Amino acid sequence: MKVLVIGSGGREHAILWALRRTSERPLELLCAPGNAGIAEIARCVPIAATEVTELAHFAENERVDLTIVGGEAPLARGIVDEFNARGLRIVGPTASAARLEASKVFAKQFMARHRVPTARFRVAGSADEAIAILRRGEFGGPDSPVVIKADGLAAGKGVVVARDRAEAERAVQELMVQRRVGDAAERVVLEEALEGREASVIFWTDGRTSRLMPPARDHKRVGEGDTGPNTGGMGAITAPGVLDRATHEQVVRQTVEPTLEGLRAEGLEFRGVLYLGLMLTPEGPRVLEYNVRLGDPEAQAILVRLRSDLTVICEAAATGHLSETDVEWADGASACVVLAARGYPERVETGAVISGLEKAAAVPGVEIFHAGTERGPQGEWRTAGGRVLGVASAAPTLDEALAQCYRAAERISWQGMNYRRDIGR
Ligand code: AMP
Ligand code: GLY
Repeated sequence: MKVLVIGSGGREHAILWALRRTSERPLELLCAPGNAGIAEIARCVPIAATEVTELAHFAENERVDLTIVGGEAPLARGIVDEFNARGLRIVGPTASAARLEASKVFAKQFMARHRVPTARFRVAGSADEAIAILRRGEFGGPDSPVVIKADGLAAGKGVVVARDRAEAERAVQELMVQRRVGDAAERVVLEEALEGREASVIFWTDGRTSRLMPPARDHKRVGEGDTGPNTGGMGAITAPGVLDRATHEQVVRQTVEPTLEGLRAEGLEFRGVLYLGLMLTPEGPRVLEYNVRLGDPEAQAILVRLRSDLTVICEAAATGHLSETDVEWADGASACVVLAARGYPERVETGAVISGLEKAAAVPGVEIFHAGTERGPQGEWRTAGGRVLGVASAAPTLDEALAQCYRAAERISWQGMNYRRDIGR
C-alpha cells in the first residue's frame, strides 16, 4: 500500500511513524515535501504542500492508494476537492468545510446557527466599525478584557487577547490598518474574553461517526509559566486530568454532536480530523476555535498512544466506514516536549550542529520527531527551523511520560537550544 503524507513538520513525522508502527500491511511511505528526519522513514518528494494540482498529478502518476494531509493550508486551497475529482483517496475536509478553520467569521456564524456554545461575538469589516463596537461597550467597560481575531489564516499570529479596551484598539489598528497579517484581517471577530482551563478534543470523522482521540492540552507560549509570545506550540500532553469523564461527555453532547449535525445540514463534506479548541468555563465548555486537522505538537503526543492500524482508520474516514472501525489507545498518558531554536518564534537562528540524537533515542519509551532539521555536508544533523525536534513518550502516568521526555531532551544539545521545563505542569 502506497501512502502519501502532505507536510514537513513534527506532526507529519509522527503520522508517518504511526503508519509504519501500526500497519498490518506492508507500506510504501511518501512525503511531500518532508524534512531530513522524515527522509529516514519515507521517500521525500520536493513538492510544496500548497501545490495542490501538482500533488494530485504526482499521486495519480505514482498510483498512491491513500493521501493524508497534515496542515490547514492545502485543505483551505481545496486539495481534497482536487483529489476527489480525480477519484484519488484522501483524508481531509473539502475547501468549503475547511472554512471552519480558514475563516473565523464563518466558524463563529456556523456555531451560532447550530447552537454550539462559544464566546459572544461581533464581526467588524473595518477598523472604524471595530472601534465603534468596542466604544459602545458591547464587551464591557474600558477596563474589560476582549479578544480580537483576524478572520483568515495567520499562522497563530491573528489572535490578540487584550487586557483592556486601549489594548484592544491597538490590536485593531495593528491588524486592520497596519495589516500585520495582511489580507487575513480584512474582517475581524471581536469576542468576550472567557476564563477557564483549555483542552483540545480531536477526532476522526467520516461526516457521520466520530472516533475520539485522547483529550490533549498544548502550551502555546514560548516561556515557562506561560509567558512570552505565542508559538505554534512548545509542548503537549494527553492525560486523564485534561478532561474528566463527565465534562468529556458534556463536550461531546454540546459541541461535537451539534458540529457534525451542522456540517451535514449544510451539505459540507468532512472526512478527516476535526479539532475543537475548548475553554472549560464555570458555565460549561465553550468552543474557542476549530482546526480541520491534527495539532502540532498535539499529534506527536496523541499518536504515541495509538494502538489501532492508522491506515485502516484513515481509509474508513475517507470512505465513510468509520462506524465499522474500532480505535484503541494505550492506557495512561503521554507528552511531547518541543526543542526550539534560539530566537523562536521571532528571528530564528538556523544551521547549528545538533548532537546527542542517538543517545536520546536510546532512552526507553521515547520517540524523537523532526520538525526543522537538515543534513550538513558531513551528514551531521543541523537545525533548519524554529521548532527543531519534538521528544514524545507514552507511559502509565503523566509524570513518567514527562520524565522520559526530559531524560531524552537533556541528552540533545546545540547552540541556542531552548525548551520549556514545565510542560504538563
Ligand atoms: P484561537 O486561535 O481562536 O484558538 O485563539 C488562540 C488562543 O487565544 C486560544 O488558545 C486561547 O488561549 C486564546 N483565546 C481565544 N479566544 C479566547 C476567548 N474568547 N477568551 C479567552 N482566551 C481566548
Ligand atoms: N498546537 C496548536 C495547533 O496546531 O494549532
